[in-house]
Amino acid sequence: MTLSLKLKETAEYIQSKGVKSIDFGLILGSGLGELADEITDKIVIPYEEIPNFPVSTVVGHAGQLVYGQLSGKTVLAMQGRFHFYEGHSMQTVTFPVRVMKALGADSLIVTNAAGGVNTSFSPGDLMLITDQINYTGDNPLIGLNEDELGPRFPDMSEAYDKAYGEVAKKVAAELKITLQKGVYMGYSGPTYETPAEIRMSRVLGADAVGMSTVPEVIVAKHMSMRVLGITCVTNLAAGMQANLNHEEVVETTERVKAEFKELVKITLERI
Ligand code: HPA
Repeated sequence: MTLSLKLKETAEYIQSKGVKSIDFGLILGSGLGELADEITDKIVIPYEEIPNFPVSTVVGHAGQLVYGQLSGKTVLAMQGRFHFYEGHSMQTVTFPVRVMKALGADSLIVTNAAGGVNTSFSPGDLMLITDQINYTGDNPLIGLNEDELGPRFPDMSEAYDKAYGEVAKKVAAELKITLQKGVYMGYSGPTYETPAEIRMSRVLGADAVGMSTVPEVIVAKHMSMRVLGITCVTNLAAGMQANLNHEEVVETTERVKAEFKELVKITLERI
């Protein structure tokens, strides 16, 4: 089956549950899943019900689509995302973004947890993603291009929408939240990086490193969507602190989730 046909099947299933045209797609990464609880007039669809969707395997990722109203916008949120390291293909990881577009979303908000590479960052900082480096060794657009979805050679000159970023910066200033900005470098995972890889990442221009987001944003740009990306710097990257573990990542997202949610909600209201 072509990707376009799969998309049609999935979009029709979601519409059959009562989902109407959406303004914004939201990908809620580690720590931000609770934002979906604030969506009103909700329709919740577990991933396992959705044709052509895989099932998420990461503990702490709920695995459902939540549709409804948030900050005056009609949104479709992914509560839990798919990762390349789970063994899904890049095409599978990014399929939900294509579904969002098929349902009418022209904009996407992506959130994630990442390690800080920039030496001026502290655990708990939020970072506006200004650009990305695809260091996964793969690309979701490899293979036949379906021209009705987007061009063969997409322009990535403005992967993250500058105007959206300006709004997020203003909102952060108003809320008195420190908002760092920088380049997100996407690794495949699931290992955390080595100290040598982190030194390399810094030389290459990364401010934060993580295991998600890059494929989704490539696919969003393939379909000409506008993207806002916000990272929670949950730890300093390898070699910059004693050692790394998932518990610390979860603890930090718990500590800052109130301001993370507020920043995303109010920015969404204004964009
Ligand atoms: N590296 C990669 N991914 C991450 C990290 C990290 O240090 N922290 C949270 N996600």
